[in-house]
Amino acid sequence: MSIALVGAVLISLIALGADQGGDWTRRAMGGQAGIVEGPAYLYLAEYDPEWPHRFAELAVQLRAAMRGLSVEIEHVGSTSVPGLAAKPMLDVDIVVQTTADVGAAVNCLERAGYRAKGTRGVPGREAFDQPPGAPVHALYVVVQGSKPHLDHMLFRDLLCRRPDLAARYESVKRANADRLPADWLGYSDAKADLITELLVLARSDAGLPVDPSAVEEDGVLYRWRAAVDDRAIDDLHADAFGETPGSYRWRRSRPLSLGWVTASEDGRLIGFVNVAWDGDCHAFLLDTAVASAYQRRGIGRRVVAKALEEAHNAGCAWVHVDYGRHLSDFYAACGFTPTAAGLRRVK
Ligand SMILES: CC(C)(COP(=O)(O)OP(=O)(O)OC[C@H]1O[C@@H](n2cnc3c(N)ncnc32)[C@H](O)[C@@H]1OP(=O)(O)O)[C@@H](O)C(=O)NCCC(=O)NCCS
Repeated sequence: MSIALVGAVLISLIALGADQGGDWTRRAMGGQAGIVEGPAYLYLAEYDPEWPHRFAELAVQLRAAMRGLSVEIEHVGSTSVPGLAAKPMLDVDIVVQTTADVGAAVNCLERAGYRAKGTRGVPGREAFDQPPGAPVHALYVVVQGSKPHLDHMLFRDLLCRRPDLAARYESVKRANADRLPADWLGYSDAKADLITELLVLARSDAGLPVDPSAVEEDGVLYRWRAAVDDRAIDDLHADAFGETPGSYRWRRSRPLSLGWVTASEDGRLIGFVNVAWDGDCHAFLLDTAVASAYQRRGIGRRVVAKALEEAHNAGCAWVHVDYGRHLSDFYAACGFTPTAAGLRRVK
């Protein structure tokens, strides 16, 4: 098996798509299985026809662990696509019928030695650390028909029926793997763009709304985690903050983000806010911006409101923001209360 070194770690940085997010915290090298919460290296392995058999064995054990609870056990992620090179780690979804069944499924898995990690920023998906000694796998409990469930299935099925797209996905993985470990953020980021594009295609092929979280108000479309053109975000940032174009490091900050809200009119980006995250209950708004020609029309308030809603959905309890005095009225209008906070210049 030829193996290329591909990666390093982020903690739940990318909250959509097939084999992303907290998975990257899993070490899969030299037969060592386990979870690490710091840098680790992962490998891109050639497709191994053993993977479906490993999944089938694991599914038998998982079914027994679920103690009669009505579930489907699905092999998802790259190892479920015949012929596709992948991190040698199975992705498995336990699909429960309704939200009311999630608690019972979590209890069954904890009794079987799994450790629940919560949603890790993906509403409707519970992630787990595997028990020691099990084959390296990422396990999720998802609710039938929920967005995480559909995303996993649609993505897998699209790549299975469209070898051309699977080949394109693999080539992006390989091309970016070559840039590693020097640019692991770039790797993760480049893959995320393609996954977003493929999910849009998969959803429209299935006759589903392309972006179920999109909201339109007064001709402006507000979206969560929509693909953002580098040039458009840079121009918006420069216009709103009065800075020189080329100064916004969106590519660098994006992988450290829970998500971001875009506002666009006729396809033109006119508003934005980034939501940085501590991986748990705190999020932080960064770079709220509305194009100068569109200010004072309520767009800023709406992008912030959507960011707050999505942070809530991801399990955050607190959203922070820091701002100059001239913005007190704006953030008060968005529902923020002033607090005492510490700040020290270090550079
Ligand atoms: C701050 C910013 C995002 C606000 O966006 P916006 O779309 O103009 O804001 P909204 O229209 O939603 O404003 C909502 C309310 O906030 C208050 N507000 C907004 N901008 C204000 C300003 N410059 N001065 C005083 N109050 C303001 C008003 O109460 C307003 O309601 P009103 O228009 O009915 O009076 C936008 O001005 C901007 O991009 N500024 C430059 C970049 C920046 O400083 N970003 C903040 C980084 S922390």
